[in-house]
Amino acid sequence: MQLRQKDLLGIEHLDRKEIELILEAAKPFKSLFTRSIKKVPTLRGKTVVNLFYEPSTRTRTSFEIAAKRLSADVVNIAVSSSSVVKGESLIDTGKTMEAMKADFIVIRHSLAGAPAVLARNLNSSIINAGDGFHEHPTQGLLDLFTIREKKRKIEGLTVLLVGDILHSRVAKSNIWGLIKMGARVRVSGPPTLIPSGIENMGVEVNYNLDEALKGVDVVNILRIQLERQQENLFPSVHEYMELYQMTRERLANARPDVLVMHPGPMNRGIEISSEVADSPAAVINEQVTNGIAVRMAVLYLLSGRFQPNKKTDRGIHE
Ligand code: CP
Repeated sequence: MQLRQKDLLGIEHLDRKEIELILEAAKPFKSLFTRSIKKVPTLRGKTVVNLFYEPSTRTRTSFEIAAKRLSADVVNIAVSSSSVVKGESLIDTGKTMEAMKADFIVIRHSLAGAPAVLARNLNSSIINAGDGFHEHPTQGLLDLFTIREKKRKIEGLTVLLVGDILHSRVAKSNIWGLIKMGARVRVSGPPTLIPSGIENMGVEVNYNLDEALKGVDVVNILRIQLERQQENLFPSVHEYMELYQMTRERLANARPDVLVMHPGPMNRGIEISSEVADSPAAVINEQVTNGIAVRMAVLYLLSGRFQPNKKTDRGIHE
């Protein structure tokens, strides 16, 4: 079993077996993290280019650490000081990276579909690190990995996504992944921030967060995009907090063993109270750790070096 495509553009394009393959492949990579030497030679001689047209703390750093732990060479392009500012097109920038023998290009872009444009025009493997409102597949995969690690399953769980579903690529990737893995998915947030017709994806909508939390196994709280405030999509931050901030009292509506997730960056005291963010139910920092293992698995599987059932004596696929 291998991934069918050279690129990872979205969870929409993965089937359940491919998702399971990535989650399984990530496990031995995670086991490396407790060792004094956290590195394997799997991608020695390969080059990973991080091409981020939008800010990032977690994803860019996580891909860099993942690639380095696989012994790949990593190049980070600072778009603001590159020839992009002189008007170079996305495809020409990509072709320049390919001419330098980039095996992987990890791209974040404000336009949905930008990674797909590169994938169609280049032989390098393209990994979507977040494109507009479309998808953020490695975030979705690390969220699935974290849920499965903590709950021992995904199938049959009820997972609630809270907040700005409309503009959230994290929400889209989570919804595709959770539904393919057999979870029941619910969303809650202001009506202006829930896409119309989302029920057609098999998602339940409940605008009342206290009701939406009933029976929930996992709650994934999305960053409220404060820049949207100018678009008048919600009346005020204060009102948002009144209705949708995840507080300890509100969280009590969920199952007692509820898992609290947030993709980051967090607006503490806005979409999530510090009390909840720092509570034992929260796995926000574990999501970050798991992100490295999942990105190692993605790089490794896309490299075509995967040989099913073959393991080294250290338990890491070769
Ligand atoms: N979760 C996430 O994508 O964070 P960054 O924007 O910091 O990469």
